Amino acid sequence: MSPYLLTRTLPEDATGAALRADVLHGLTRTPKSLPPKWFYDARGSALFDEITTLPEYYPTRAEREILVTRSGEIAEVTGARTLVELGSGSSEKTRHLIDALPALHTYVPVDVSESALTGAANTLLAERPALNVHALIADFTRGLALPGTPGPRLVAFLGGTIGNLLPAERAAFLTSVRGLLSPGDALLLGTDLVKDESVLVSAYDDGTGVTAAFNKNVLHVVNRELGADFDPDAFAHVAVWDRDQEWIEMRLRARAAQTVKVPALDLAVHFEEGEDLRTEISAKFREEVVKSELAQAGLSLTHWWTDERGRFALSLSTPA
Ligand code: SAH
Ligand code: AVI
Repeated sequence: MSPYLLTRTLPEDATGAALRADVLHGLTRTPKSLPPKWFYDARGSALFDEITTLPEYYPTRAEREILVTRSGEIAEVTGARTLVELGSGSSEKTRHLIDALPALHTYVPVDVSESALTGAANTLLAERPALNVHALIADFTRGLALPGTPGPRLVAFLGGTIGNLLPAERAAFLTSVRGLLSPGDALLLGTDLVKDESVLVSAYDDGTGVTAAFNKNVLHVVNRELGADFDPDAFAHVAVWDRDQEWIEMRLRARAAQTVKVPALDLAVHFEEGEDLRTEISAKFREEVVKSELAQAGLSLTHWWTDERGRFALSLSTPA
């Protein structure tokens, strides 16, 4: 097989149709919201990569520390021949895992962002020309069909991206991941952990404004794709900790009353001064919650590793 394949599992206009449906649904209800997957065009993916280098944004460093320390053990326990990574982005941290898996046959990165997949594959293949990479442009919440590569399979979902799903979406997602696993396969899941509010809020409202630019990027995407006339400067970036739900909410707050036109939907959306548009939740977890949500999806938690400072966790689970 050629060392690199790229498969688009979404029909040609699926992205456009899904964006129209999400914008129509999210901007015509109260409170207004948009799903976070629309951050990630080429600019949004680059901004996310910049976020991962910020001093305030600890999750990437904490998860990398765990991968550096534990990849050998993960390789030994799973013996994975196929590594599937959901929401793989730059695949930067994944290299530690790839390098530790002696029997690895194929790496299958899955992402909605074509630019992230192509950039990651180019970098990986330049360093490891013998690696088979079968990239999938796909929405991991929409039921995945994986290529027929050899098992055991390790499905990795890193970065704490599971926290960007609402609780009901999370449950449905874990059940669908369970459906991808055969006996002997495993799920490696990254979850950010509950911690001091000030640490969390700083991580989502950094001093240099990169996260604010990332947040506002969704407005640029809607402008470009649907001809909308959002003025990103007319919205303020807001990050708040919801202590009951134990999640960070990123919002865009209208600085003044305004009406935004979305011609592709024949829609005019009114914002009151101070009205919020929720663009992301980022849930933070406790071990017991992760264990019980996995169990509800038919997965048994077998390993739980944290970084030395207990900020982030990687868990391994197998079909129950
Ligand atoms: N795993 C990487 C990147 C995290 S950023 C890390 O840990 O650093 C989240 C990634 O998930 C982005 O690359 C984004 O494009 C992708 N993503 C978000 N929602 C998605 C969805 N519904 N389906 C597929 N990919 C998605
Ligand atoms: C991808 N995801 C886990 C990030 C997070 O921390 O929830 C996205 C992000 N949002 C703001 N900064 C980073």
